[in-house]
Order: sequence, then C-alpha cells, then structure tokens
Amino acid sequence: MPAKENNFQNMKSMLPINKASIFHHSEVKDTETIDALLILSHVVSAVSGLNELNAILKVGLEKTLEFFKGAHGGVMLLDEEDERLYYRVYKGLSDEYAQKMSLRLGEGINGKVALTGKAVLLDDISKEPEVLKQNLVQKEGLRAFISVPLRFKEKIFGVLHCAGSHTHQFTYKDMHLLHSIGDQLGIAIGQSRLYERLREKRERYRQVARQVITAQEEEKKRISQELHDETSQMLAALTLNLQALIEMSNMIGIRDAKFRSMLAKTHNSTIQINNEVNRLIADLRPTLLDSLGFIPAIRHHVESCLFPLNIAINFEIQEIPFPLSAEVEVTLFRWVQGVVGNIMQHSRAKNVTVFLQKKDQKLEICIQDDGRGFDVSKIGKSDDKKGRFGMGLMIMKERIRLIKGDCSIHSEPGKGTKVFAEIPLTE
Ligand SMILES: Nc1ncnc2c1ncn2[C@@H]1O[C@H](COP(=O)(O)OP(=O)(O)O)[C@@H](O)[C@H]1O
Ligand SMILES: [Mg+2]
Repeated sequence: MPAKENNFQNMKSMLPINKASIFHHSEVKDTETIDALLILSHVVSAVSGLNELNAILKVGLEKTLEFFKGAHGGVMLLDEEDERLYYRVYKGLSDEYAQKMSLRLGEGINGKVALTGKAVLLDDISKEPEVLKQNLVQKEGLRAFISVPLRFKEKIFGVLHCAGSHTHQFTYKDMHLLHSIGDQLGIAIGQSRLYERLREKRERYRQVARQVITAQEEEKKRISQELHDETSQMLAALTLNLQALIEMSNMIGIRDAKFRSMLAKTHNSTIQINNEVNRLIADLRPTLLDSLGFIPAIRHHVESCLFPLNIAINFEIQEIPFPLSAEVEVTLFRWVQGVVGNIMQHSRAKNVTVFLQKKDQKLEICIQDDGRGFDVSKIGKSDDKKGRFGMGLMIMKERIRLIKGDCSIHSEPGKGTKVFAEIPLTE
C-alpha cells in the first residue's frame, strides 16, 4: 500500500466521503479494488443475519483485519448515559490499552470522529498533538491510523478504527474502504438495536398479557367460588324447600290443579337454574382439574362436549410421570376448551383424535378433527364482520407462548384441522 502524505491537521477539513469517488472506472481491474469489494461483501454477508450486537462487531472487525493484514483495530461504542466511548471489541490491542482508552465524545481522535461523523486518516498517530493519552499510544507502538464513524441514518453509535505499526501504512483508498465497512456495520448495529428494542417491547407485552390472563383467571376463580358458595347453595336449598312444599301439598290434600302445576314448574325451573349455575361454575374455573386431575379433566371435558354431537373420540394419551404446574395445567385446559369449542362450533367433524405425550423434555398435545377445515392464511388478517379473523386462535397461541411453549394450527378447506402445542417441561 503506497504511502500518502498527510496528517490529522489536513484531515480535519476533510469532507464526508463521496462514495462515487471510492472506485474510479479505470481502477476496476485493479486487484486491490477487487479485493476491497470482496472484503466489503464478506463483511456484509458475515454480519447479515446476526442480531446480537457483540457477534456483529466481532465478526465485522475480524473480517476487516483480514484485509488490513498486520493491522490492529477495534470498535468503540458511545455510552449514551455518560457520553463516553468505550471499546466493545478489539484485536491486536492490549487489554490495558483498551481499558484505559475510554474517551469523551469529541475528545482525542476517535472522540472527534464520533462527534463529527467524519473519517480520519493519520500517517503517524504517535506524532499527532491532538491524541490523548499519548503515552498509551506510544507504549502500544501505534503509527498509521484510520478511524471511521459507525452510523445508522443520522445517529452515530461509535467508531471503527485500524492502526498499524508503521508510518504511512494506509492510503485514502484504505480509508474509503474502511468507511464503507463502517457504513455496513452501522446499519447492522442500528438494526440490532431496533431488534433489541422490539424484543424488549415484545417481552413487556408478554408480561402484561400474562398479568391480564392471571388476573382474569383469579377473577373467574373468585366469581365461581362465590357462585358455588352462595348462589348454588341457596338454589339447592330453594329446590329442597319446593320439594318439601310439593310433599306437604300432597299430604294436606291440596287439589287445586293450577296451584299444583305452578309449584311443579317452579320446582323444575329451580333445578334447571341450578344446573345452569353449575355449568357456569365449571366453565369459569376448571374445577375438574382440582377434582379429577389434569388428564381425566381433559378427557371428561372433551367427552362431555363432543359425545352429545355424535362425534367419535379417539384418545392417544400417555400419562405424565410428574405433576404439571398449576399455571401450565390451567393454560392447557383453557387451550383444550378453545380447540374443542371451535370443533363444536365450526368443524362439522365426525371423528376427533386427542393426542398427548411427553417427548424429551416437552409435552406435546394435539387435537385433530376430520371436519370441513379452513384457510389458515386468513388468521390475523382483517375480516369485514368481526375485525380480525381468528382472534380466538391467536389468543390460544399467545397463551401457550406465555408458558414458553409453541402452538401451531394446520388446516385446509375440506381437509380437517389439527391444532398442536408443545410446552417445555420442568419437574
Ligand atoms: N376445527 C375447525 N374447523 C373448521 N373451522 C375452524 C376450526 N377452528 C377454527 N375454524 C375457523 O377459524 C375461525 C377462527 O376461529 P376462532 O379464532 O376461534 O374464532 P371464532 O371461533 O370466534 O370464530 C372460525 O371462525 C372458523 O372459521
Ligand atoms: Mg373460537
């Protein structure tokens, strides 16, 4: 790489790099240019697909230094709270240098690059008066130096720099290449931060959803308790009293047909209301879980819903060798209620298979019907009538995700429906 005459004082006036001037037409056959394009494409393909910031920076720096043979380098990122640059990754630099070389924004050469967004090429950093902590630089034996900003849109995240042990080691072309690499890394960093923010938001949403679902379950439990302890008891007492009245009217020989028929009707209505309240209690709280245990409760629920519709049920169920947590049990029971509810409402199925097994450290559960099926690609899309198609299915999926599981729905018109969930198990 031919030497170039310049120093930092010259560079301070350098304008942001005009990319069109990086590779002139006449230079296209130049092997250095082709190498440069190759390294650029290597960096781009190496960091694309990576979401984790440290991995992006490490791979980006390694690929860069493969091209600038013998050079040392590092990435310094700006800490937004204290507005200082710190090394996040480095190679060929000592730990002591990297630890002591934190800079305020605008301070030293890297600090200025991070502040102004303008790249800098120096032929000998050890002679540069603007350099801070010159003793460290000298001890490290650094001479030629390039620093470029890492930016995404208008935001500068930090700098990427290369340093060599010889003076005049780098050219303008090298700086332009490093600038292009810096641009690509900047985009990758920006995207990784967006991804990170998205992940945090999703996590927060999950926490809120979890709290809502827990609160909902608690409330359902409270209402069902009250219905059970108060309403249902009172209705039972009322039924008994009416029964006693009927017997008394027989004993004392009341013959009025209208009176007797009204009494019988009231008695029957009270029994019906009590049954209705008991059904409500069972819907509100999977008491079956408490009284029967998880698997019998599921069997009972599926049978009591599907037998009256003449749907044949095939259970392929393996016992689970240890109890599930209450949260997992309730979530899965609600999930089964949702899937079975859809079968009753929409499927027109003749046969249903309920499959449950423990596989490795996972619980797999699947409910399949041979009904009319539907187009799953419509789930989540807007629907003229109700807002969004498949809200019930989406809530079912979300509930399973809250217990760190996964739920998938497979269906095609005319080909039945299969709803599958898997949940990690911890003893
Ligand atoms: N087992 C099934 N068989 C046929 N269609 C189904 C089945 N499950 C769901 N669907 C279809 O998917 C739609 C969305 O289901 P869901 O999200 O539970 O909402 P909802 O039951 O309130 O309509 C249903 O309206 C129905 O068209
Ligand atoms: Mg539904």
